Amino acid sequence: MVPPRAGSDCGVPQDDGPDHHARLLQCHAIGREKQIHGYGEAIKWHRERGIDPDTLRKWEEALICVGSIPGLEIDSWSKETLVINVLVANVLRALNRYFVGIEHHVERVMKLLNVESSDIRVVGIHGIGGTGKTTIARFIYKRIFDLFDGCSFLENVREHTKKPGGLDNLQGQLVSDLLGVTHGQIHSVDDGIKSIRSRLLHKKVLIVLDDIEPSFELTPILSILDSLGSGSRIIITTRDEQALDKFEVSLKYEVGGMREEEVDELFCSHAFRGRPAPADLATLSKKIVSTIGRLPLTVEVVGSYLYSKSKEVWEQTLNELRKVPEPQVQQKLMVIIKALPDKQRLIFLDIACFFIGEDKSVACYLWSDRDSASGSVLEVLINSSIVKIENDKLWMHDQLRDLGRDIVLEKHLKPGKHSRLWSHEQARCAGE
Ligand SMILES: Nc1ncnc2c1ncn2[C@@H]1O[C@H](COP(=O)(O)OP(=O)(O)OP(=O)(O)O)[C@@H](O)[C@H]1O
Ligand SMILES: [Mg+2]
Repeated sequence: MVPPRAGSDCGVPQDDGPDHHARLLQCHAIGREKQIHGYGEAIKWHRERGIDPDTLRKWEEALICVGSIPGLEIDSWSKETLVINVLVANVLRALNRYFVGIEHHVERVMKLLNVESSDIRVVGIHGIGGTGKTTIARFIYKRIFDLFDGCSFLENVREHTKKPGGLDNLQGQLVSDLLGVTHGQIHSVDDGIKSIRSRLLHKKVLIVLDDIEPSFELTPILSILDSLGSGSRIIITTRDEQALDKFEVSLKYEVGGMREEEVDELFCSHAFRGRPAPADLATLSKKIVSTIGRLPLTVEVVGSYLYSKSKEVWEQTLNELRKVPEPQVQQKLMVIIKALPDKQRLIFLDIACFFIGEDKSVACYLWSDRDSASGSVLEVLINSSIVKIENDKLWMHDQLRDLGRDIVLEKHLKPGKHSRLWSHEQARCAGE
């Protein structure tokens, strides 16, 4: 007879570490009925086989604790797989980990990178904004970074170079990443570059330069290339293929839009969170999928916004989306931003203009003067995938940020009339 171990049918590894708790949680969802009988028998089975009482007590406490968490009502659901789908979709969403079709891109870029070969290679990933270039570069970086002696992922280079001293800061980050020292220990960028040349000479490094424009002066950063060791790899992502031509990158990968079935999968994962589409929304869902475009960013934002909304809202959104021609990513996103109630739109604009990278609690504290419900308004924006939280800091995609800033700029053309000023330049013009 197979021992009646709690969770033995969940396919999760057996131990008493975090995986064990994950298994308990997974089983909790499978059914209260099964849980009561299954766990009681399982604990008895383990006790009879001499598992020490302390460990058993910890397991029992964990089960009681899990049992008291209000969960999904699953009694009326006939298929356990459905419950598991919902849980998995929700957890992956919460972790920002629901990716569709990414492996296909990763494999193609990995072929160009050919990490086994000993030459120095620069590979470019290009495609329009929101198509998934940074995401692909992150996947690859995580997969291969430990094959190198040093590595650095310089994210959003375009954004950084717009700030005063931005290029120096990037060089500083590159130096500190590759040498494993903090910025404070680098006296000047030139010193850092010299250190890289001497200390990483002939060492194998991996560098990602994310979001490059043709107009960039990258020579100072790229000046270290000639001192890199064999097997080194540089990955450049850009919206503009000309940037790759400018830096003579011949190994290129173009990220196209998602396939329709991928759009459908991603959209449904956000709009229905793992549940099957309700009958009255199934046709609408297909229509939205064929109108929404092929970019994961738009699919994620529109799908998340529509989650648990009424059929009327779905119909209005479809009508608005239909008015926007295909490649206009920002205009598709604008459909959602326009539909936000005032409070949500104000908070969206504040984050776009001021609070990206700021602590969530700091922003909430500042908003609390204006609106005591700002925390819950922010939650709605997070659930709509418009705003994300990374390490307790507020974040939004650069396409959404630019959209928000354009809204502020377009409302009043004169800087003095803008509702928000976020750059020195704007503040200076406003004061004139
Ligand atoms: N394959 C995918 N499946 C699901 N979501 C994805 C996928 N690829 C990207 N995304 C999501 O789409 C959004 C845009 O992706 P990303 O930032 O990588 O685009 P990008 O091409 O770098 O855009 P930009 O040119 O504006 O920098 C992100 O929120 C990301 O999580
Ligand atoms: Mg990007």
